[in-house]
Amino acid sequence: QENSMILSFESSCDETSVAVIKNGNKILSNVVATQIKSHQRFGGVVPEVASRHHIEEITICINDALQRANVTYDDLTAVAVTYGPGLVGALLIGVTAAKVVAWAHNLPLIPINHIAGHIYATNFVKPITFPAMALVVSGGHTELVWMPKEGKFEIIGETRDDAAGEAFDKIGRVLGINYPAGPTVDAMAQKGKDTFAFPRAMEADDNYDFSFSGLKSAFINTVHHADQIGKTLNKNDLAASFEAAVVDVLAEKSQSALEKYPAKEFILAGGVAANHGIRERLASVASKENVEFVKAPLKLCGDNAAMIGAAAAAMQHHQEAGKASLNADPGLEF
Ligand code: KG4
Ligand code: ZN
Repeated sequence: QENSMILSFESSCDETSVAVIKNGNKILSNVVATQIKSHQRFGGVVPEVASRHHIEEITICINDALQRANVTYDDLTAVAVTYGPGLVGALLIGVTAAKVVAWAHNLPLIPINHIAGHIYATNFVKPITFPAMALVVSGGHTELVWMPKEGKFEIIGETRDDAAGEAFDKIGRVLGINYPAGPTVDAMAQKGKDTFAFPRAMEADDNYDFSFSGLKSAFINTVHHADQIGKTLNKNDLAASFEAAVVDVLAEKSQSALEKYPAKEFILAGGVAANHGIRERLASVASKENVEFVKAPLKLCGDNAAMIGAAAAAMQHHQEAGKASLNADPGLEF
């Protein structure tokens, strides 16, 4: 990671982001152009709209990132890019831009898995101590990832239906909150109480998988039923009860994983890792299991290129360099 200066790209979903990362853990710039406003009226991310925004933004972001970092192409040691998983048309813009820069300036290209990127956002706190366990919770993913050593990832459990963030967004919509609803539901939950007994799916099952669609349906049915009989429910309590159910399941599964696997460090990352309830509860799980708890910095929980640069610096010597034939891989697995 030492003496590296990486220009990194992230465009897997609805943020166009380019960063300059020094030695794997110093952010010289991290430009994030968000498209949220354009997707809000549709209630979620529209892939075609996302691709068009990425095309418009990408060169502006590159120039901004270099300028803010006060570096030129000559100062760079490598180029890194998210090549999956994500929306194929969105990924393609970042991948193409990264390949062009790498080729034009004769720099090595480092392809990065988006989930690995989320995990390595913790590199800005401290380097990962292996073996490590990571809980990645985002709009598209909910996974427990076992990392025996640098560059090795094994998904030991994942959601069977909705991702945690997706569930936050969908129940938020029922409460009349704009996409993405997670942050607002979180703020409401802090003011409410867990008074509705929502289901904790698969909590007692002997695996590390999750399911949030039953919880989502229970929530929606509760609200619709109240509407039908003309009853008003306390929205903060609804939010608090929903969040409590999500937190319970994430905590339960993380705890069983930490009991089984000899992790030295427990990582919390992904967009939903910004959630207050989750941060607090998983800290107590880690302390109970006697492992070091490292959460992604609040500002780097959501999608950004800084985390991709950090992952690239750590993994550069643990994986093959990217080739000119590198392609976007929307269903990329570890
Ligand atoms: O990682 P991310 O930026 O994009 C994906 O890779 O999916 O995650 C975005 C997700 C959205 O679903 C958003 O509602 C959720 O993270 N989110 C939250 C909070 N902040 C963002 N969910 C719950 N509580 C929050 N504080
Ligand atoms: Zn993400």
